[in-house]
Amino acid sequence: MVGSICFGPTLLGTREYDAENWSQAEYLRELIRINQPFLGKEEIDAAVEVLRSGILTDKSGMGPRVLEFERSFAKFVGAKHAVAVVNGTAALHASLLAADVGPGDEVILPSFTFVGAANAVVLTGATPVFADIDKDTYCIRIESVEECVSRKTKAIIPTDLYGLPSDISGIMNLARGKDIVTIEDAAQAHGAQFDGKKIGSIADMTCFSFYAGKNITTGEGGMVTTNDDGYAQALRMVRSHGEQRPYWTVRPGHNYHMTEIAAAIGYAQLKKLPSFLEKRRKNAELTTEKLNMTGKLLLPKEPDGRKHSWYLYTVRLRGVNAAKRNKIVDKLWNKNIEAGVYYSSPVHSTPLYRDSNIARRGRLPETEKASRQVFSLPVHPRLGETEIEYVAETLRKTIA
Ligand SMILES: Cc1ncc(COP(=O)(O)O)c(C=O)c1O
Repeated sequence: MVGSICFGPTLLGTREYDAENWSQAEYLRELIRINQPFLGKEEIDAAVEVLRSGILTDKSGMGPRVLEFERSFAKFVGAKHAVAVVNGTAALHASLLAADVGPGDEVILPSFTFVGAANAVVLTGATPVFADIDKDTYCIRIESVEECVSRKTKAIIPTDLYGLPSDISGIMNLARGKDIVTIEDAAQAHGAQFDGKKIGSIADMTCFSFYAGKNITTGEGGMVTTNDDGYAQALRMVRSHGEQRPYWTVRPGHNYHMTEIAAAIGYAQLKKLPSFLEKRRKNAELTTEKLNMTGKLLLPKEPDGRKHSWYLYTVRLRGVNAAKRNKIVDKLWNKNIEAGVYYSSPVHSTPLYRDSNIARRGRLPETEKASRQVFSLPVHPRLGETEIEYVAETLRKTIA
């Protein structure tokens, strides 16, 4: 069985949660999760405080906790505005609507990513156009994007896959002269950097997810950051049924408000993000050190000028087919390691996109190849040296 993320009752459920005292040995007896929320007293107190206050939401989505979270998130990434929404898919959909993407338009994006961006494009009535990826970074490849550009191209959505930034400046250069909007999908890349700048401060709009498995979480949640006043204003309207003021709708929209409880948890998580990122990096570096000598595995790269957020540590088995890769992943599961395959079915190969004319695509050889050969290992901040060594050693033995 190929791994999927599932957040069971381990946290705040059947067991008393105490991150400080959770012994490493306990992990080894249990499944080592691919990613896991890292919550503590701060998040619990913040959520309880909101419940006590009685203010659970605000009809325009701008309650005090949401505003506080938005301000601190904008400051963290170095953007002028941050607009909180209900999840990462809503962030993408709201950004497309804010950019007036609609029927007759095309949006270029990778197929080798989570389906959220493609579905968001479809929901606007526009056509997704799938571009291929770079074989080393797994992010969208500029040359393939160029091949996909047409008169109808209205936006490009690069995904910062596994937490590694795309070549965002290359994409923005390509888009600038052609009046194309760049909407970066940074759902997996909180805290990542490109040329010394935080992701979230570069593209026209950048979308983040706070799903339970992400680098920071609000359970479900999302954020769009932008330096453009017009987009910020449009995003605030879109998340509130296109209302310019209460009961005065001027553009299509949705109810995409983040709740006050989610924002309070997000604010507490954001304060911890730098330490989470440091731990992820340390775990990734240790994994690289332990796996370096295997030869059969291609390890993740961090090209010059790009700083990974290490959402996932993704390796590649050279020259194998999907069945062989899946066998290795199954063996890891049998050893209590939740290795995951992101993504065994690229979006263009899923039934909706494969069997209809809903999308267009260029040639996708690297997408197809990566979908057969990659799998990801856990490096999340709740793992210590013992678990990381166990994962690396088990993988080494499995492929030996
Ligand atoms: C790359 C990518 N884009 C978009 C999303 C959608 O985010 P959400 O699950 O918060 O809607 C996710 C999250 O799973 C993701 O990994």
